[in-house]
Amino acid sequence: MPSTVIVGAQWGDEGKGKIVDLLAQQSDVVCRFQGGANAGHTIVVDGETFKIRLIPSGIVSGKVCVIGAGVVVDPEVFLAEIDELGARGLDTDEVYLSGNAHLVMPWHVAIDQASERRLGKLQIGTTRRGIGPAYADKASRIGIRVQDVLDPKILRQKIEVALAEKNLWLERVYEVEPFDLTEIAERYEAYAQRLRPFVADTSLLVHRALEQGKHVLFEGAQATLLDLDHGTYPFVTSSNPVASTAATGIGIGPNRLDSILGVAKAYVTRVGEGPLPSEIPSPLQERICELGAEFGTVTGRKRRCGWLDLVGLRYATRLNGFTSFALTKLDVLSHFDEIPVCVRYLLPDGTETDEFPAHQSDFHHCRAVLETLPGWSEPLDGVERFEDLPPAASDYVAFVERELGIEVTLIGTGAGREQVLTRGAALERV
Ligand code: GDP
Ligand code: IMO
Ligand code: MG
Repeated sequence: MPSTVIVGAQWGDEGKGKIVDLLAQQSDVVCRFQGGANAGHTIVVDGETFKIRLIPSGIVSGKVCVIGAGVVVDPEVFLAEIDELGARGLDTDEVYLSGNAHLVMPWHVAIDQASERRLGKLQIGTTRRGIGPAYADKASRIGIRVQDVLDPKILRQKIEVALAEKNLWLERVYEVEPFDLTEIAERYEAYAQRLRPFVADTSLLVHRALEQGKHVLFEGAQATLLDLDHGTYPFVTSSNPVASTAATGIGIGPNRLDSILGVAKAYVTRVGEGPLPSEIPSPLQERICELGAEFGTVTGRKRRCGWLDLVGLRYATRLNGFTSFALTKLDVLSHFDEIPVCVRYLLPDGTETDEFPAHQSDFHHCRAVLETLPGWSEPLDGVERFEDLPPAASDYVAFVERELGIEVTLIGTGAGREQVLTRGAALERV
């Protein structure tokens, strides 16, 4: 199968980066197609940890890396990442950036921060990286794109036009400091010089790679339940992290996407605000958080933890059309006699459903109906084959497969690249 989309099936941080890194070993090109530096993907190879926000995870294994038109790029973060990875000995010569991708500008970050502050208790809990305001300007057709940096005159003009409006908002509505045109223009002209060599026609590049039978991975950021259209709005991100976006975000036909791998933790986490029906009560939640090291890569915030939510996963399976599944962090559950799993939601009218509620009032007030599965106490980090898992652990995986009707082909047993159990043709697929 020449192309595989890898997307998060929950609320993010499922371990997508680690799975992409593993599959990248047998691939040629790795693409990001949505989101921006709100993503934080951690990859651990031979004890060395890489935390990546914008550049596709394929960079760790020297693959061709593509940032498509659907991504919003903060040039400061991008260039800092290029410098950092380069300094650590990685080859960054084959990183390509779509000219159609939009830039996250300093006022996007300032507006994200100010608007969250202003929302107070109603805040979304964004990563405050300017993602929402950058996508909003893109949709309003007043954004600044990567290709604008190729012409200094156009760049300065666009910054001037944008700042004339944004400074009014910042000063009068949000009552924060405005930006100085000369300072911003000079800073971005300098970035422009550095960005220039990375700019490419990435739609054509990926098309040609696929035509040549190369193996291409599409690396999702964020996750299905944070999708702007299908997620738990308004507590979502401002892009569409579902699998079909890989086609639009890169600029290829949807029929070029061969397999769709969903990534889910063996439990669930959420950063930021919004309901989490299967949230684990204290102090057990704090224990899981500690065992799973559940602290955000980008913001360092504690991630809220819940039991595996099969209602959410069933919905994610429908929205993405998963052809297989990766279940990560199974090792974190090694310490429990019993493991509850959310199989249905109890709705406010007293009925139960195994389908994700279509309306927010149902979702916001539903309660998790839990079924308890037997746990296991053996650590999993030394297990090398699926067949060697403790019976209760393989039963846990089989339960998920039965409920979702999809094969779990990859199982995470630790943070390291090699700590994945593979089943069937998981790795031959890419
Ligand atoms: P992503 O945003 O989906 O790429 O996920 P993150 O990297 O933000 O969060 C996943 C965290 O879990 C990272 O710290 C990974 O190193 C770690 N991780 C990934 N898979 C496993 C696993 O199977 N077991 C354990 N214990 N940690 C894992
Ligand atoms: P990865 O790729 C987890 C969450 C934020 C917030 C909401 C909106 O590492 O899985 P935004 O800054 O996007 O406007 O914030 O989305 N969020 C993530 N949560 N992992 C992520 O990325 C996330 N990216 C955004 O916490 O609730
Ligand atoms: Mg993450």
